[in-house]
Amino acid sequence: MKDRFLRALNQQPVDKTPIWIMRQAGRYLPEYRATREKAGDFLTLCKTPELCCEVTMQPLKRFDLDAAIIFSDILTIPDAMGLGLSLQEKTGPVFSRPIKSFNEIKALPIPDPEQDLGYVMDAIRLSKKALNNKVPLIGFAGSPWTLAAYMVEGAGSRNFTKIKKLAYSNTEATHMLLTKLTESVTLYLEAQISAGADAIMIFDSWGGILSTDAYQIFSLNYMRLIIQKLAKYKIPTILFTKGGGLWLESIAETKCTAVGLDWTTDISVAKNLIGDKVALQGNLDPAIMLTTPEIIAEEAKKILDRFGRGSGHVFNLGHGITPEVPPENVEMLVSTVHSYSESFHGQES
Ligand code: CP3
Repeated sequence: MKDRFLRALNQQPVDKTPIWIMRQAGRYLPEYRATREKAGDFLTLCKTPELCCEVTMQPLKRFDLDAAIIFSDILTIPDAMGLGLSLQEKTGPVFSRPIKSFNEIKALPIPDPEQDLGYVMDAIRLSKKALNNKVPLIGFAGSPWTLAAYMVEGAGSRNFTKIKKLAYSNTEATHMLLTKLTESVTLYLEAQISAGADAIMIFDSWGGILSTDAYQIFSLNYMRLIIQKLAKYKIPTILFTKGGGLWLESIAETKCTAVGLDWTTDISVAKNLIGDKVALQGNLDPAIMLTTPEIIAEEAKKILDRFGRGSGHVFNLGHGITPEVPPENVEMLVSTVHSYSESFHGQES
């Protein structure tokens, strides 16, 4: 297996800096749009393992990426809990039965991963076969806090007033919800590991909306529990809190293998703060992917220069790639990262 990605996560020597891209299987690829069209809608695509496998493989056929990520979504868990997920073209994900009361939280089931989310495990098993050990496969889940935010808001949100009001006024209900989600996410990730996932990433997309104290209490503490539960599997875990740049030291203390950085953090500052404990993943501003191949190459080199010599860096964007990006810009990013990073690895000359 091309193991640069796993080696970099474990801070072992590599020949080149590995790269994969958040949302690498997505709407910027015409072949993804065609498969989604064939499926009918996004959720049907997510629930059809053969098509998930097809879409997972699409970016790897085009680009020399160092990892695959299973095609799915973080909202599969709330969907399996019965909240009625749908995805609307303009507004994004929407739940028809969002959480409105303590009683609803009490009644929430913990999904059985093989029974209720078996389509994800089947997609992982099929993708592992299709990958044929070419590159590692990343499994993932949303953080309990991020899932709770969607479940209480009922959709994406600008200010997250409903979930914040709940968190600050009814801590008992909030912690019951977060505890149920922590158990669900742990079981889900364990099943993904059994199905073949080689590394795990936790997406805490909405941790960054919290105050420092509230972040610890409502988001980080629960992610720490998940990391602790997964430790026995000895596979790398990547923890990504978007907007978490001020809390890097406490994130690294969870004992995750790597910390995902959004583009607002200077990767050299992060390396100095926590680079002895964890690997770093990131962190090109996704908006740069909308410019030209020349600008993309320049900006990618700046990040590689800032990280400097040595292993422990997995190149990525600071958040997901957006639908408007021309695929040839991704080609440029991948080839630049591989060729330019060579001088940062190997023998000191
Ligand atoms: O990275 C990958 O290629 C794997 C696939 C993946 C998707 N969603 C596919 C997807 C992953 C890792 C996710 C995670 C996810 N989903 C997150 C965490 C990462 C982040 O962006 O912060 C979140 C918050 C979600 C919830 C979600 N799903 C939103 C907000 C949306 C709509 C926004 C958008 O980009 O349109 C989705 C839909 C979604 N998930 C799409 C894809 C490819 C687009 C749906 C489509 O095909 O129309």
